[in-house]
Amino acid sequence: QFDMSDFSEVLVSENAIGRKLDEMAAQIRADYEGKDLLLVGVLKGAVMVMADLARRMPPAVQMDWMAVSSYGSGTKSSGVVRILKDLDADLTGRHVLIVEDIIDTGVTLSWLLGNLRSRGAASVEVASLLRKPDAAKVEVPVTYLGFDIPNQFVVGYGLDFAESYRTLPFVAVLKPEVYGDK
Ligand code: PRP
Ligand code: MN
Ligand code: MG
Repeated sequence: QFDMSDFSEVLVSENAIGRKLDEMAAQIRADYEGKDLLLVGVLKGAVMVMADLARRMPPAVQMDWMAVSSYGSGTKSSGVVRILKDLDADLTGRHVLIVEDIIDTGVTLSWLLGNLRSRGAASVEVASLLRKPDAAKVEVPVTYLGFDIPNQFVVGYGLDFAESYRTLPFVAVLKPEVYGDK
């Protein structure tokens, strides 16, 4: 179905993602029982995690979306974050759970946490499927974490290289010759 020759390794399989999301969702459902919960997905990388996590939530749970940009066109973080699309929802008094695909340097999420916390939410927590501990420039408190992974260029399940590979159902390591690292 896919040309696997672009990848050196499948790091997290489709089954492993599904099992992990079951665990994360059970914990989230327990922690937010009786509270109204707003999931905030960070476009575009978080679309797959959001879709699969949200379908494991009770029907009253709501979704909203933000688009921010912390990367230029390259593969390295510029450290500059700007809002490309803001939330529709007013966060006043809401319980907010930011949903991310990956925490790399932490720059995006640390900025987003500060931004959303300034809007009067009752709580703001973070759920991320992946985290690269060895790439961290800023420590970000993650309440719900799927997997810690090595500091390699990974794609799939929402994660892109130049907007491609997001649709893969698994997370794989992209071969350096594909992204042009010499
Ligand atoms: C990626 C990823 C996270 C962020 C993590 O998004 O989806 O949102 O980078 O990097 P950081 O921890 O170093 O800030 P990107 O900016 O590539 O946009 P995308 O989600 O549209 O791919
Ligand atoms: Mn992203
Ligand atoms: Mg990206």
